[in-house]
Parts: sequence; structure tokens; C-alpha cells
Amino acid sequence: MNILVTGGAGYIGSHTCVALLEAGHSVSIADNLCNSKRETVDKVKLIANKEVTFYEMDVTNAEAVDVVFQNHKIDGVIHFAGLKAVGESVELPLDYYYNNIVSTLILAKACLKYSVNKFVFSSSATVYGDNTVPFVETLNLLPTTNPYGETKAMCERILTDIAKANPSFSVSILRYFNPVGAHESGFIGEAPNGIPNNLMPYVTQVAKGKLKRLRVFGNDYPTVDGTGVRDYIHVVDLAEGHVAALDHLTEGVHIYNLGTGQGTSVLELVNAFETANDINVPYEIVDRRPGDIASCYADASKAKRELGWTAKRDIIAMCRDSWRFETNSKE
Ligand code: NAD
Ligand code: UFG
Repeated sequence: MNILVTGGAGYIGSHTCVALLEAGHSVSIADNLCNSKRETVDKVKLIANKEVTFYEMDVTNAEAVDVVFQNHKIDGVIHFAGLKAVGESVELPLDYYYNNIVSTLILAKACLKYSVNKFVFSSSATVYGDNTVPFVETLNLLPTTNPYGETKAMCERILTDIAKANPSFSVSILRYFNPVGAHESGFIGEAPNGIPNNLMPYVTQVAKGKLKRLRVFGNDYPTVDGTGVRDYIHVVDLAEGHVAALDHLTEGVHIYNLGTGQGTSVLELVNAFETANDINVPYEIVDRRPGDIASCYADASKAKRELGWTAKRDIIAMCRDSWRFETNSKE
């Protein structure tokens, strides 16, 4: 299939492009590079040893999107493009609502206009809010604590309504848990701008000596050791989940958790990182971070049952591959 990947120069998008190319699909990327680099597209081509068409463009620009659909016979869209920093979304709600929702509306409209029936959307476990773990797809969603999370919940509803009204429009909504790790080549991975918000990139930068010590946000949660528990998933497993979702896409709306089903605490992750890479990660316990929940992990059985997909890479592989990418990067 010819797949249009929006946000394909980004962290999850680039790994998914590699997985798509390796599975025999053709890929066009549309990305405005607001949180990524053009070199990543070259690395994708290098790893997969295949060509990719790259459009440097904003997917909130309806005319530019129309040109892409005119230029290619697109069979499916995977829509990664979006702003994703939870804290920033509280400061810049308009930017987040505009970018994440308008892009989804414009792409869905182009799909209907050009009879492109396959649409895969990047959602997030954040839409579950502070529900009871493990999170299963049938749970009623709870409000999230930030505009970013709300954009994901809204886009899920918008795509669901569009699919109801257009029976041939097939939508796969993928709720990611906590993607970490990097391609085993060490060529592509997560390279956040500035000081990272997320745990794994913070840990790798502490290990490298770029940051002094990790601040562990709270050790008084009702969890195994008091620190927050998350379902970390290797980004290459996540990428393969997209290929499976696309291959199995049938009419209607299908929602899948993409996680491992395993919870890991902050201190367990730090220990795994130290063991995997034989390196020390200094840390201190500080206050809880506002908006955090105690535990978030998936019931991953639906994706296994319906897509034949499960995450294969363990926490040690995630820590090893994250570290390889960090040590490869020049900054
Ligand atoms: P990322 O920032 O690395 O990738 C997003 C890409 O989209 C970037 O390359 C950026 O330049 C591009 N982009 C943003 N707005 C655009 C626009 N209007 N037009 C064109 N390109 C645009 O982020 P990621 O971690 O790869 O996340 C991909 C998707 O998955 C996002 O929608 C994100 O919300 C979602 N998600 C991420 C996580 C996570 O922890 N990384 C968890 C759940 C869901
Ligand atoms: N944490 C620390 N210190 C840090 C960073 C994080 O202790 O410096 C802790 C957090 O308190 C939490 C855990 O590590 O317990 C994971 O935090 P992340 O910031 O890495 O990830 P979150 O679970 O908060 O959120 C991430 C993405 C969201 C996405 C969500 C989906 O940032 O966009 O996963 O589950 F919606």
C-alpha cells in the first residue's frame, strides 16, 4: 500500500516508516519539522534501504494536503503529526487545540474527497484519565488534566462520528502507553529539544552527564515502591503495531491499546537502565508532579486477539537501545 505518514520525521513516526518500508509498503511523509529534523528522513531511507517521498509542509494547510492527495494514489493515512508536550499544552491551549484538531479534520476531509478509506490515528493512554488499571479499551474515558489529552479524546470522537456517517471509512485508533527505546541501529530515536519532560530521555541525559541527577516525582504512591508505575513499550514494537493495525483494518472504528501489559515503577526503570548499561544514574526523590497518576498500564489482550500483535522487547532492551541512541548523538 502507499501510506501517507504525517509526522513521519518524528520519534514514533520515523520508526513506523521503517517498519512500513520493511513490510513492503511505500511511504510519503508530511512533516513541518516543528519537532524533528530533516536528517531523520534520510536515516529512515538508510535503515530501510528504500526511497521515501518527503513533503516539508504543515498538515493544517488544506491546500498543501490536497496537493499531496493529488500527487499520489494514497491507500491509507497514519496521522502522527501533533504537538505532544503536556505541560506546554496548559500554557498554549489554543496552539494545541488548533494544531491537533484542525490537522485531523483536514486529513479526514481529504480522505473522504479522494476515497482513501484507511486512517490510523495516534491516540494516548492519557484519555483513560485516572481509571482503574489495567486500562481496557471498553472503559468509560475520564477527563484528562490538560489540553493535550483533551485533543486526543476529541479527535477520537470526531473520527468515530465520521466513520459512523461514512461506512467505508475505516479507522484504527491506537492508544499508546509510554514509548521508549530506539531503533537498534542507533540512527533514529527520541531527541527532545531542551530539558526532557519524560523519564527515559531524562535518565539517558543524566547517565551521559548532561544533567546532574534524576528527580523522581514522588515515592508515596500506592505502588510497589511508592514511585509512579507506567507501561513502557519499545518504539519498534509500537511501530510494528501500526503495520498490524493497517493490515487488519476493516470498516468501522477499532480502538486498540498498544502497550506491554506490564507496569514498571520509576525506580525499577532506573535499576533496569543501570543493569542494562552498567552505568550509574544518580537520583533524588522530590515532590509529586502535578497531574501525574499513580499507575497506568494496558490490558493489551485486544491487540493480540484481533491484530495478532504483542510487544516482544523487554525493559532491558528498551534501556539498552535508548542508551545506544543517546551515546550516538553528538549533542
Ligand atoms: P514527535 O514530536 O517526535 O513527532 C510528531 C511530528 O509531527 C514531529 O516530527 C513534528 O514536526 C510533526 N508535526 C507536528 N505538527 C505538525 C503539523 N501541523 N504539520 C506537519 N507536521 C507536524 O512526537 P511522537 O512522540 O513521535 O508522537 C507522535 C504522535 O503520537 C503524536 O500525535 C503524539 O501526541 C502521539 N503520542 C505520543 C506519545 C509519546 O509519549 N511519545 C504517547 C501517546 C501518544
Ligand atoms: N518521572 C520522574 N522524573 C522525571 C520524569 C518523569 O519521576 O523527570 C516519572 C513520572 O512522575 C511518571 C513516570 O516517570 O511516574 C513517567 O513519566 P513520563 O513523563 O515519562 O510519562 P507520562 O506517563 O507522564 O506521560 C507520557 C507522555 C504523555 C502520554 C502518556 C501516555 O508524556 O504524552 O505517557 O501514557 F499521554
